[in-house]
Amino acid sequence: MKIGIQSNPRGFAKKWIEYCEIFNIDYKLIDVYKNDVITQVKDCDAFMWHTDHLSRKDYQVAKRLLTAVEHSGKICFPSIYENWHYDDKVAQRYLLEAIDAPLIPSYVFFEEKEALDWAEETTWPKVFKLTGGAGSSNVNLIKDKSQAKKIIQKSFGKGHSIFDQRKYFLEERISKYKQDKSFVSLVKSFYHLLKPLNKEWVNHIEKDYVYFQDFMPNNSYDLRLVVVNQNRIFGLKRYNRKDDFRASGSGNMDFLNNDVDKSILQLALDTSVKLKMNSVAYDIVFDPKSNPVIIEITYAYSTSAYEKCPGYWDENLNWHKGEIGNYSGWMVEEVIKQAKNKSIQK
Ligand SMILES: Nc1ncnc2c1ncn2[C@@H]1O[C@H](COP(=O)(O)OP(=O)(O)O)[C@@H](O)[C@H]1O
Ligand SMILES: [Mg+2]
Repeated sequence: MKIGIQSNPRGFAKKWIEYCEIFNIDYKLIDVYKNDVITQVKDCDAFMWHTDHLSRKDYQVAKRLLTAVEHSGKICFPSIYENWHYDDKVAQRYLLEAIDAPLIPSYVFFEEKEALDWAEETTWPKVFKLTGGAGSSNVNLIKDKSQAKKIIQKSFGKGHSIFDQRKYFLEERISKYKQDKSFVSLVKSFYHLLKPLNKEWVNHIEKDYVYFQDFMPNNSYDLRLVVVNQNRIFGLKRYNRKDDFRASGSGNMDFLNNDVDKSILQLALDTSVKLKMNSVAYDIVFDPKSNPVIIEITYAYSTSAYEKCPGYWDENLNWHKGEIGNYSGWMVEEVIKQAKNKSIQK
């Protein structure tokens, strides 16, 4: 049994390697960006890669490579079920609707005229999103029809940068300044404007579609629930940025500590089974009738934050108290279990 792991200084990979070292699991490091990558993984039973949505290279390689390797019969993390809709909110919208999960009413258009006609008739505000992005970088409140028309025309015209680094960091600094009123934050915002752009990050243009969601008012936080191996649930309560409806990326959060309604936990668990995902994080807010609705799903999430979670719920929703530590190791366990099952079936 051998696992191929794409090494990555950030994210799950470091923890996977740590786990393999401690438990004497045979692994080798893979370089996914090399031309011979398929040869590299040939002698592996499984292949694990925590892809980075900001990386230009991962954007090119990840879905192509992981799908090809899984097709060849190897167990992959992320699996096709976890990966095909990664960082793609439009895909997630189709998927959540298809499996009858509670999602926010969402509207996607691929014709400018159709979108403009709809904008004329519908109610505002609504939330405009690009299909990719994290930390609220591509999520904005559109207050009225005239603002909507501008955004629709831009979406079918010159388009939107998937990650406008200068704009993003400036907005982040301003948001931090609003929160802490610190002079250091202000100075940092100017510094970010002068910093050279990171050429490793995605910067392509998104266009020829437009995506909106109904705005769910009166949510001062979102719930970030993570389900690993369809039997362990943990997470965070993430508070909105100051004077803002967006929680993701605010950096202001509390750990969940056996304080979530069981029906929401059950929803997360059942949905992860329907989605066939062994690693899934949900962003959840509440609709005007106080029902939980899923904003988005992702197989990948920040590693370090969750390790300090003070406990987890199991598949019977019983709470297990104690810092959860290296939960990335649970992913390795699952991959090994699946690879063993596969070799027995052969
Ligand atoms: N339709 C919505 N109604 C109300 N709040 C929303 C809605 N969509 C997103 N949000 C808020 O904006 C944040 C970012 O949205 P999300 O779609 O998760 O984008 P990202 O991928 O950047 O995290 C969420 O954490 C939530 O607080
Ligand atoms: Mg989110």
